Amino acid sequence: MNIVVIGSINTDLVINTNRMPKIGETISGNGFAINCGGKGVNQAVAAAKLGGNITFIGAAGKDENGNMSIKNLENNRIDTKCIARTDINTGVAVITVCNGDNCIILDAGANDLVSKEIIDRNKDVILAADAVIMQLEIPIETVTYAANIAHKAGVKVILNPAPIVELPLELLKNTDVFILNETEAEFVTKVCPDTEENRIKCMNILKDYGISTVVLTLGAEGPVYTEGSCIKYQKAYKAEVVDTTAAGDTFIGAFCMKMKEGIETAVKYATAASSITVSRKGASESIPTGTEVDELTRNIK
Ligand code: RIB
Repeated sequence: MNIVVIGSINTDLVINTNRMPKIGETISGNGFAINCGGKGVNQAVAAAKLGGNITFIGAAGKDENGNMSIKNLENNRIDTKCIARTDINTGVAVITVCNGDNCIILDAGANDLVSKEIIDRNKDVILAADAVIMQLEIPIETVTYAANIAHKAGVKVILNPAPIVELPLELLKNTDVFILNETEAEFVTKVCPDTEENRIKCMNILKDYGISTVVLTLGAEGPVYTEGSCIKYQKAYKAEVVDTTAAGDTFIGAFCMKMKEGIETAVKYATAASSITVSRKGASESIPTGTEVDELTRNIK
């Protein structure tokens, strides 16, 4: 599968704590790490570790963080020739991990410079791909522009609208696969997917835009999707939750790698992959290989 990921590159500064601080309070953490992250990077690494041929389009600073991120992508066999190097710093995410969950503050840095010009420069790479994966840590105008080019050329557009912002109608219409969590689904559809009826409502609203595949990831509950007129649930795999960072990103990369085999297979595989990610610390380093996911799905039916 030839996949182009157009997305963010971040350096994650992570502190683990036993509880989140209150406003104005200083508390002690219990461990610090600098990790390679960014939703774009994590999704690219997930698809690459699971066997995809990935090209990354994005921007990183000419700083040490940028060098580290690019080395990480290359170590995962990802083609980095379409990454622009800028005088603005590489994106930084400050992450607090507390009992497995996290809070993230982002400084977009170079990610804000992923422009339509960068897309134009790399149009041939996009047109030669089977699928394009995007998230929203780069400018929404660029995502909308790239989705338009890819969709019109028959290249599948997979959109993960995180972090959520108001989505242009044009972007929704050019999206083939939409993978989102409950907060994002409520923001877009104005329906809270808290009951089966509301979940169907949400997915139908999104499908009315012409999106053929919608998957709602519901955290520990496991994902929900529709097949024909039926709503289907995939139970989450049991895992000891250490750090949920990059779990959603793993789901997206893994889903794309299996989507040709049908939605049920893709959702099951992606759920298994992300259950391994949550059991490990870090962002792209916590993502499993294909062998690890296969082993898990073989042992637990
Ligand atoms: O989805 C997880 C990612 O979100 C982190 O790696 C961090 O960089 C933020 O972008």
